[in-house]
Amino acid sequence: MEEKKKYARTLVTTALPYANGPVHIGHLAGVYVPADIYVRYLRLKGEDVLMIGGSDEHGVPITIKAQKEGVTPQDIVDRYHNIIKDSMAGLGISFDIYGRTTSQMHRHTASDFFKKLYDKGEFIEKTSEQFYDEEANQWLADRYITGTCPHCGNDGAYGDQCEACGTSLNATDLINPRSAITGNVPVLKETKHWYMPLDKWEPRLRQWILEGHKEWKTNVYGQCKSWLDGGLQPRAVTRDLNWGIPVPIDGAEGKVLYVWFDAPIGYISNTKELRPDDWEKYWKDSDTRIIHFIGKDNIVFHCLIFPAMLMAEGSYQLPENVPANEFLNLEGDKISTSRNWAVWLHEYLQDFPGKQDVLRYVLTANAPETKDNDFTWKDFQDRNNNELVAILGNFVNRAIVLTNKYFDGVIPAAHELNDYDHATIEEFKGVKDELGKALDTFHFRAALAEAMKLARIGNKYLADTEPWKLAKTDMARVETIMNVALQITANLAIAFEPFLPFSAEKLRKMINLDSADWNKLGSIDILKAGGRVEKAELLFEKIDDETIKAQTDRLERIKQENILKNFTPKAVAPTVTFDDFQKLDIRVGKVLECEKVKKADKLLKFTIDDGTSKPRTIVSGIAKFYKPEDLVGKQVCFIANFPTRKLKGVDSQGMILSAEDADGRLVVIGPQGEVRPGVQVG
Ligand code: 2FM
Ligand code: ZN
Repeated sequence: MEEKKKYARTLVTTALPYANGPVHIGHLAGVYVPADIYVRYLRLKGEDVLMIGGSDEHGVPITIKAQKEGVTPQDIVDRYHNIIKDSMAGLGISFDIYGRTTSQMHRHTASDFFKKLYDKGEFIEKTSEQFYDEEANQWLADRYITGTCPHCGNDGAYGDQCEACGTSLNATDLINPRSAITGNVPVLKETKHWYMPLDKWEPRLRQWILEGHKEWKTNVYGQCKSWLDGGLQPRAVTRDLNWGIPVPIDGAEGKVLYVWFDAPIGYISNTKELRPDDWEKYWKDSDTRIIHFIGKDNIVFHCLIFPAMLMAEGSYQLPENVPANEFLNLEGDKISTSRNWAVWLHEYLQDFPGKQDVLRYVLTANAPETKDNDFTWKDFQDRNNNELVAILGNFVNRAIVLTNKYFDGVIPAAHELNDYDHATIEEFKGVKDELGKALDTFHFRAALAEAMKLARIGNKYLADTEPWKLAKTDMARVETIMNVALQITANLAIAFEPFLPFSAEKLRKMINLDSADWNKLGSIDILKAGGRVEKAELLFEKIDDETIKAQTDRLERIKQENILKNFTPKAVAPTVTFDDFQKLDIRVGKVLECEKVKKADKLLKFTIDDGTSKPRTIVSGIAKFYKPEDLVGKQVCFIANFPTRKLKGVDSQGMILSAEDADGRLVVIGPQGEVRPGVQVG
């Protein structure tokens, strides 16, 4: 039965990433991979769909990065826009346009949008006090002000947030505020800005989302509800900054549109750029469906602020859905651009050439759809080896190899189907509905699992029917089995196209299927008997431990670098007297023997020549950092007048001195030159 269409076309937008760094797996799993799956699915169904993307090239972080590097903001955005654009194309993210917010088209569109709201009287004007750097002659965005955090005393807190304790701040909360540009004390000066009165739109937003869109994902609906229940306040939509789109009214010299005002308008500008003649129908016709793919930190902007702007403008459609994802972590830690804790897409494409689909698969199978999720390299390897290679790749390969072997590559005809064949066909016919339902409702993990189910059905079919055993006795049966297996293969080429477009294309070529058509999914006569298959080519190959280790080693190095970068020595302890110091009897000893303590993975037992006739035993908690045999013969410093303690049944007579490095590694302390065991340190 043909599904009844309630809309004529779909406009899919994807959050515009800031062009101040490359994109990483968090961006991909949250936004671009699911959006691309969705768009490819609609295209396969023959629907009218546009996928709009681009770079977000304004905002303070870009100016800060430029200042740090001593280049212009334009240099920064040119560099990253190109890196991002190329790497997304490399992963097969099939934008119809990947534009940028520094384009002329965008500048005009955003400027006109602002002007229209201004002329309609949709803004309120307010004067407030903001910090100003008199030497640099520049207003200071919150990020440009540093000072002492009033909550935790951190001296390096920013005007919008203290990164030490995580508190959100106003620049005026900082103790001893300083300009990050000159280091001077900034002054407070009055400045005028324009605000969107979100409170005015609150009742309509409430009605539209809380009543009208109960079907939205619970994480999105819940966040909207909590903002709305908290009461919306007017939001400034202009800034004192020299990077951005100038505020297009008199008396606003030196001011620009707030980046979050202009960025979502970028979706409109990029649509205009792509379709200058009929862009309006994608935004203004009521039979268009607009879907925004974003990450959870963008929910308020796409569900409340941008819709309020559209309502105020009056001629645009509101989004039909905003399937925002949660965050993806990396090996248990939050992904962070500044800490370089990420898997960068452009690096992945270099390190894993031809393996775009593996990343797409893993990020979808593990997508943070309802809660934050974790990417680990181990899971990446396992999913490749145990799922892509062992299930999907294995089935396809067998089907094609056997067709070549028994029929010289010619697709055999199916004769009489038996009950088992019918049961198998019934089972995989069901997959189409489930798959479509999951994709229609943005459940991409579930959809991928359904597609994989098809491959599992295929594997089971060949394993159960064992055509290789029948080849000598019942060739007619083998023909039927291989026909069914090849029809399943053709179904896989269609079902996986949205998820794994590179492999699906390779597969289509292998079975000479010209195009993938969603409507044929579930059918058992996609491939005609008498047609040919090509020689089998592997769709996926195993990823070995060494390859994975190179990636985890890289992350380990970054972790160590970050620890060392952030090291600050502890505050010095209260002053002691010389007598206090002399109470400690520190001596040098030579290690005669060293061994692990049984049932204690941290402890080493030392036998030390302390200069007396009877060697001394000391137990020390450094087993994780040394091999016992490496310490034999070394000289170490120890406290000789420590009370004897029993550790795991061993009497320990003293304490070996060690320094703890910033990363927690313990390093044993000893004299720089050989001395007589038993001499004192002082
Ligand atoms: O959070 C971000 O990375 C923003 N640059 C997203 C903007 S989305 C849209 F509004 F442009
Ligand atoms: Zn703090």
